[in-house]
This record gives sequence, structure tokens and C-alpha cells, in this order.
Amino acid sequence: MLTQAATLLAGVRSALVLTGAGLSAESGIPVFRGPAGLWKRFRPEELATPVAFVRMPREVWAWYRWRLEQVLASRPNEGHRALARLAGKRSLKVLNQNVDGLLEEAFREEGADEGAIESIHGSIRHAHCANCGVGCPMEEVAADDLPLCSSCGGYMRPSVIWFGETLAQTSLSALESEPRRRELLISIGTSAQVWPAASVLPAMNALGKPVIELNSDPDSFSQYKSIRLEGSAASLMPQLVREAVHV
Ligand code: OAD
Repeated sequence: MLTQAATLLAGVRSALVLTGAGLSAESGIPVFRGPAGLWKRFRPEELATPVAFVRMPREVWAWYRWRLEQVLASRPNEGHRALARLAGKRSLKVLNQNVDGLLEEAFREEGADEGAIESIHGSIRHAHCANCGVGCPMEEVAADDLPLCSSCGGYMRPSVIWFGETLAQTSLSALESEPRRRELLISIGTSAQVWPAASVLPAMNALGKPVIELNSDPDSFSQYKSIRLEGSAASLMPQLVREAVHV
């Protein structure tokens, strides 16, 4: 399977990549779903919503501070780095569901163009005022129990997309247009259950373009047609990239 996937990747000029929490798992950041999908005692669907933030802003902040601590203590892994090296060899668009900033960090460190990454669910490293929109780095506000905006006194919130919120227009446009522009899709470490992110899999199927899925859990592959690589992102991505483009 790896050789088949690598041969396909070797033969294209441009590829679309969908990344999920599994890509950052080996950096020490827990995934949401699947066998290891335990986020403390909360389900993301319960805390990552605008309604939860209105009802219990302190609890929502505590959850994000806990996540931020994990993110700040972590480093990109070999899966992130392999993807950055691939970006130096092929025209890539990465639709990144992760809010941890680790893929961006790997691209910077490997000298790849960060412009290839569209982090469609926002960034946990930034916060903004839910009232007036003024933003700042998360670290400047996250030490407070319930941080308030220095301009208008409104509640500060993490700059991530919550369940029930609409993605940025650039993300929606990319999700809509990129499947047509790219020759194949690599889906890495995602349960492909959250929409509209997961829509690129059926879109590529409908266009008759190949999909490579990489997941460590055989039961977590999507229902869509794909070449399935079972294994961890940090070990399989470097193998795939080395075999396909020799870096
Ligand atoms: P999930 O937690 O739903 O899925 C992670 C997937 O990664 C699972 O299928 C795991 O089997 C797989 N996995 C775990 N460790 C892996 C490893 N080392 N290598 C490869 N695969 C591994 O995470 P996402 O699909 O990213 O939304 O979740 C999508 C969205 O749901 C997230 O972006 C977040 C969440 O609620 C927002 O923040 C808006």
C-alpha cells in the first residue's frame, strides 16, 4: 500500500492535504475521537461552542488554558516535518484542522512556505474579544481566570472555530475550490467526521481523483474510497515522502 501511495504521489505536481489531530498525537497532544480520544472529562462538542462560552465562560477558559499548556510544551514531530519537506517538492495546499500551530512551526523550521497552510479551525495561540474583535496572542491573556478585553471590557475568547460557527471565507473558498485544482488528496490523522472539513474526501471521490488516507486505527478510516495506510503519522509520513520525492 505504501509503495502504491508513493508511486501516485511521485506522479503528481500538486496535492491537497487534509490534516487532523492524529498528526499532532505524537507531539503529545491528545486527539478528540478514536481509542485514545480522551479530552480530560469533556467532550469537545460540549465545551467548544458559543453557547457553552456564554453559560460557563470560566470552565471554557480553563479547558483552553489546559490545552494551551500542552501546545506550548510540545514540538512538531516527524510527520509535520515530512509534510513540510513534501511542500518543497510539490505544490501543496494543506487544509489543517489543528489549532496547535505545530504544522506552521515545522514549515518555518524546514524553510517551507507557510502560505500553503490554511488552518481552517483557527489558532489556540491567539485570542480576540467576543464583543469588539480586538485580538492578541493567547499567552497575554490566558493567565487570567476570565480575561476581559482591554479596549471594551468584553470577554476575550480563543481564536478558534467553535461548533455551530462558520469558517472564515478563505477556508470555505479553499474547501470548495481546492479539490478541483489538485490531483490527489492525502488525509492524515483525521476521523473525517467534522464538516465542512471532511467534505474534501467525497469531493475528490466524485472528481475521480485518488485519495490516500493515513490513520493509526483501522476502524477510523472514512467511508470514502481511498488507499489506506495504517500506522502512525510520525512514522508513515517520512516513509511516504522519502519513497515518493526522495527527501
Ligand atoms: P479526531 O480526534 O476526530 O480524529 C483523530 C484521528 O487520528 C482518529 O481517527 C485517530 O484514529 C487518528 N490517530 C490518532 N493517533 C494517530 C497517529 N499517531 N497517527 C495517525 N493517526 C492517528 O480529530 P480530527 O479529525 O482532527 O474541531 O477532528 C476534527 C475536528 O473535531 C477538530 O479540528 C476539532 C474537533 O472538534 C474544532 O476545533 C472546530
